Amino acid sequence: ATTVPADDRVPDMGKRELMNLLLLGTISLPTAGMIVPYAAFFVPPGSGGEGGGIVAKDALGNDVLAAQWLKAHGPGDRTLTQGLKGDPTYLVVENDRTLATYAINAVCTHLGCVVPWNAAENKFICPCHGSQYNNQGTVVRGPAPLSLALAHCDVDDGKVVFVPWVETDFRTGEAPWWA
Ligand code: FES
Repeated sequence: ATTVPADDRVPDMGKRELMNLLLLGTISLPTAGMIVPYAAFFVPPGSGGEGGGIVAKDALGNDVLAAQWLKAHGPGDRTLTQGLKGDPTYLVVENDRTLATYAINAVCTHLGCVVPWNAAENKFICPCHGSQYNNQGTVVRGPAPLSLALAHCDVDDGKVVFVPWVETDFRTGEAPWWA
């Protein structure tokens, strides 16, 4: 086989790979059933296999506990945590001192700067090119073309959990551009 000219190798490899695949398929079928419970054991609670959720992490990398967070963050607070795909994501404290059921992705829709919250202006204002977003992340001034992305913010076993937002954007009534 080592003397086969390069041109002839490709179809040959293709055939062999197909054989391997078929072989692998038959061998791994019986074991699949054993692997599933094992995997389920290692999936941490709140990682939300169904929706691909993750536990929010604070600036130190610790899990965000809802009760603790609400003690330290008052009404109207918007503070960054680590969210889905590692994106910086704002937890929102509502005026009634509860956590909002949505969180705001801090990545500017213009060129990707992290947009700071400006409490005095009640807006997110991007330092890079001046885009502005209202307190829910709806774009109110360009050059940013779109509102900040959303994530669902749930509490599971006391921990704050982000789940991908794939439904209609409640701010615009449109399909989410990020999903
Ligand atoms: Fe935010 Fe350009 S990256 S305005």
